[in-house]
Amino acid sequence: MLDGKKTLFSGMQATGNLTLGNYLGALKNWVSLNEEYQCFFSVVDMHSITVRQDPAELRKRARALYTLYVAAGLDPEKNCIYYQSHVSGHAELAWILNCYTYMGELNRMTQFKDKSAKHEDNINAGLYTYPVLMAADILLYQTDVVPVGADQKQHLELARDIAARFNSIYGDVFTIPEPYIGKVGARIMSLQNPEKKMSKSDENPNASIYLTDDRDTVIRKFKRAVTDSLADVRYSDEQPGIKNLIDIYSATTMKTPAEIEKEFSGKGYGDFKLAVGEAVADMLKPLQDRIASLSKDKAYIDSMIKNNAEKASYLSNKTLRKVQKKVGFPEKIR
Ligand code: TRP
Repeated sequence: MLDGKKTLFSGMQATGNLTLGNYLGALKNWVSLNEEYQCFFSVVDMHSITVRQDPAELRKRARALYTLYVAAGLDPEKNCIYYQSHVSGHAELAWILNCYTYMGELNRMTQFKDKSAKHEDNINAGLYTYPVLMAADILLYQTDVVPVGADQKQHLELARDIAARFNSIYGDVFTIPEPYIGKVGARIMSLQNPEKKMSKSDENPNASIYLTDDRDTVIRKFKRAVTDSLADVRYSDEQPGIKNLIDIYSATTMKTPAEIEKEFSGKGYGDFKLAVGEAVADMLKPLQDRIASLSKDKAYIDSMIKNNAEKASYLSNKTLRKVQKKVGFPEKIR
C-alpha cells in the first residue's frame, strides 16, 4: 500500500512486434488504472535474455516499447514505467527466492516445457528459473494485484506460493499478490485462424495487425481476414471470424455487437471488412503520430527512464533490505 493506493505490477517483454491484440486486450485498458492503483509497468529485459537476443535489437525494442506505453497514454509521471535491468533489486531478490523454490515446482511450469521444446539448443538455467525472477518482480513492490493473461496464471500462482512459504518461515514479509480482475480487454484472435489468439510471434504476418502497420497494410490485412460463407454479419460462435471482427470493431468504436449487426445487416463482408480496417487505421494513426513525436523528444523519455528507475530502486530496496535481514545477511556497515 503506497499513497493509500493498492499496488499493481505488470511486466512486459520487448520481444516481437506488438499487435492490435496487445493494445485492445491490455495496454488501452491500463491507461486509467493509476487512478485506483499505484502502478508499475516494467520492461522486463532481464527475462528477454532467457532466449538468445541480438543486443542492438533488444535495446531498440525495449526503447520502442517504453515509448509505446507513453504514447498509448500511460503517463510516466503517474505510472512507474522502468527497465527491469536498471533496478538491481530484481536480480538480488530472485537469487534469494531461488533458494525458497523447489525444482519440483519449476518442473511443472508449462511455459518452461514449451520454451525448452522450442529452443532445444539453449535450455539454460535462466529459462528454468524465469518464474522465480517474475516472482521477485512482483514481490519486490509488495504488489496487491497483477494483470496477467492465461499463459502467466501458473507463474503468478507460483509467486503466491513462494511468498506464502517465505512468510510462514519469517513472518509477514511479502504481500500475497492476487490476479487483477477488472475490466478485461477484448480477446483478439488471429485474422487467419480465428480459433487462435492474435500473437506477435505468429509466422504469418497477415494473421496480426502490428501497431506499426500503415493504413494500407491494415486495410489489406482486414480484407484478407478469414471469415465464412454465411454472408451474414452476426455475433455468433458459429462464425468465429466474423465474431472476431465484430469484437475488434466494437473495441475500436465502442459500438456494441448488436449495434454493429444492425449497421451491417444486409451488407456484404467486403463492406464490413473495409469499415473495420478503416476504423482500426483511424485509431492507430494518432498512436503512431505520438510515437513519432515522442521518439524525437529523447531528453523527455530519458528523464522519465531515469526518474522511474530511481523511484523503483528506492521502493524495491525497502523490501530487499527486509528480506536480506530475515534470511541472515549481515548488515552493511555505512
Ligand atoms: N512473464 C511475463 C510475460 O511474458 C512478463 C512478466 C515478467 C511479468 N515479470 C512479470 C508479468 C511480473 C506480470 C508480472 O508475459
